[in-house]
Amino acid sequence: MAGVAEGTSAVHGADEPVIATQDLQVGFNRRAFVREVNLDVRSGEKVALLGANGAGKTTTLMALAGLVAPLGGTVMWLGRATSGLLHQRSKHGLGFVPAERSIFSRMTVADNIRVGRCAVDDVLRHFPELEKRLTVSAGSMSGGEQQMLSLGRALARKPRLLIIDELSLGLAPVVIDRLYRAINEAAREGTGVLFVEQHVEKALSLADRAYVLARGRIVMAGTAAAVSARSTEIEEVYLGGRTQVDEASEAHG
Ligand SMILES: Nc1ncnc2c1ncn2[C@@H]1O[C@H](COP(=O)(O)OP(=O)(O)O)[C@@H](O)[C@H]1O
Ligand SMILES: [Mg+2]
Repeated sequence: MAGVAEGTSAVHGADEPVIATQDLQVGFNRRAFVREVNLDVRSGEKVALLGANGAGKTTTLMALAGLVAPLGGTVMWLGRATSGLLHQRSKHGLGFVPAERSIFSRMTVADNIRVGRCAVDDVLRHFPELEKRLTVSAGSMSGGEQQMLSLGRALARKPRLLIIDELSLGLAPVVIDRLYRAINEAAREGTGVLFVEQHVEKALSLADRAYVLARGRIVMAGTAAAVSARSTEIEEVYLGGRTQVDEASEAHG
């Protein structure tokens, strides 16, 4: 089985989180919007980050990926505080799939893979269905195929941690299931996955654990089963009802 890319930290144990935040604060114009966020993801773990539009999910992911500097708190990468940028973190095994698919629509699928500095075969291992599309322009493909390309490119690098924003926005259920299958396979090979997903129920069917954000704070956290059981509260969160941190549910299951 293919191993996950080696990191640089000799002190990082297998049970330690790949990424963890301590009291993370992120915002704009020096004003924190995301506050007191404590989360972590371990190797092989699939973790959903849920919350209504504007809850702060993308803002949180940007700080984890090193695309914006936190206003406070710490991002720990492989057990060490980090302030590296995305390209530095990606050398040490961080993959990031942004919500806007980072695909060059006029380039062929094969060229999109090459500019992503990965091998075509490594992408096809995750999504063999792209083989017959290699020579067409990426922009001519369906949204589902484009997301397979984005995700396949990220997975081809065997990241220790893959961060995915809006995993399945606008895609058909059959495509979503296909993407989930690829994520499950990668997780079984040791990749930790943190993903944002619009469909709460769908997300919880893939996730081992979930965090729910509301107005920049984590208001619920726990195993997917535990969070699933609180669907009424989640609906309230999505309607903007709650902002208190729920400490009782923060322990890992
Ligand atoms: N570049 C920005 N400058 C100022 N405010 C922003 C910026 N990006 C997002 N925001 C605000 O931060 C909040 C969280 O946004 P975001 O993280 O995109 O939410 P989500 O991804 O959960 O929908 C929103 O109120 C949004 O309007
Ligand atoms: Mg967003």
